[in-house]
Amino acid sequence: MATATATTAAAAVRTPPMDAFWMPFSSNKNFKAKPRLIAAAKDMHCYDAAGRKLLDATAGLWCCNAGHCREPIVSAIKKQAETLDFAPTFHLGHPAVFEFCERLRGYFPAELSAVFLTNSGSEAADTALKIALAYQKIRGKGGKQRFIGRERSYHGVGFGGISVGGIVKNRHWFGCQTLIADHLPHTHDPARNLFSRGEPEHGGEEFADALLRLIALHDASTIAAVIVEPVAGSTGVLVPPRGYLQKLRKICDDNDILLIFDEVITAFGRLGANTAAEKFGVVPDMLTFAKGSTSGTAPLGGVAVREGIRKQFMEAADETEIDFFHGYTYSGHPLCVAAGMGTLDLYEAEGLMTRIDGEGIAEYFADALHSLKDLPGVADIRNFGLMGAVELQPIPGKPGKRAFSLFEKCFHEKDLMTRVAGDVFAFSPPLIAGKKHIDEMFGKFGEALREEKQ
Ligand SMILES: Cc1ncc(COP(=O)(O)O)c(C=O)c1O
Repeated sequence: MATATATTAAAAVRTPPMDAFWMPFSSNKNFKAKPRLIAAAKDMHCYDAAGRKLLDATAGLWCCNAGHCREPIVSAIKKQAETLDFAPTFHLGHPAVFEFCERLRGYFPAELSAVFLTNSGSEAADTALKIALAYQKIRGKGGKQRFIGRERSYHGVGFGGISVGGIVKNRHWFGCQTLIADHLPHTHDPARNLFSRGEPEHGGEEFADALLRLIALHDASTIAAVIVEPVAGSTGVLVPPRGYLQKLRKICDDNDILLIFDEVITAFGRLGANTAAEKFGVVPDMLTFAKGSTSGTAPLGGVAVREGIRKQFMEAADETEIDFFHGYTYSGHPLCVAAGMGTLDLYEAEGLMTRIDGEGIAEYFADALHSLKDLPGVADIRNFGLMGAVELQPIPGKPGKRAFSLFEKCFHEKDLMTRVAGDVFAFSPPLIAGKKHIDEMFGKFGEALREEKQ
């Protein structure tokens, strides 16, 4: 029934005028010449403007963890829209946002008991960086103004995020206005860890020890925080080698430096646990989240903050003073909070935070992914939880071109929605995926690879 509704809705959509919308992170020329329009979606599938059904191998953009247009979320949003459209959260509030944050913090390590809400992952990253700077200043360590990010990391597109991020193209036009930052080396080590299943074996401590060199170079008294994605998503699923995150934690502790995990992709079940912090057994000082918090249905992100950090802000402000000069008009927007509540209901009812391990889905996904190893031009395969990457050998002198044309082929000819970063295909299906979906996903992708004209 639901599928029929989605098909009908998609069929009714005409190709819209293409000119005005300047698309984000896209080749506007390529898209507008041959659009790839998604007009409707349900569960594991999207429907293009003509009603053609595509399998979603990417949970939208790493966000639709519960699948698309799920009834409990849809009805929660509808109900909220009829009751309270908006209430400010500056000096005022509405009940649901307090209830939501109370519930949300149950998903994070117990130490991170304060939840600050934003509208996106980029804002979450910038908020965490601001909290770090302010915290250091409040406790009399105002010299700690430097951040340490990592090569090949993505923390969104705010000026803070691009400063600590490790993607040069996101920075090179704007680099004259970034924060003070240095970068750890990325942890992808093809010489030793190609075709790793789960955590790569080699280099964990070694890569983390690079932080000691940066501390020696800059001095701990100048460093406010280290920020990393526990598993880097956007640059092609870079899984931390065994022991890496634990060692980073230790070095930060030893040197009085905050550790921030950017869990915009990894929180809410992607790795088979509430968070990567839980999965790897490492508690950061702050944890950013977004995407999965509403299963992609409404823009909502945030930062979970260690109680001791919040306490510094509370103690520094008197009874009526603002304790943190930061916030967004839509921090805790009622519709987004309702979407979040509906999402958590669904996660809990269907056990989606742990389902991928409990039902053997992550294992099945890893087997299917790694079975592509011998296909033409496959350079590496890696995975963790329900995140997987197939890295292709690039066309000499044309990085990214090969993967992009395969991405177009998957969409137009194989009814498969994929995601590429350079020459890496990143797979991250909704957490409701069944074995048949995984077979279909890698069956179609393998077919496209075999048919590819090199
Ligand atoms: C790790 C990480 N941080 C931050 C962001 C930025 O999130 P948004 O696009 O919601 O601003 C992303 C987006 O993919 C991300 O993967």
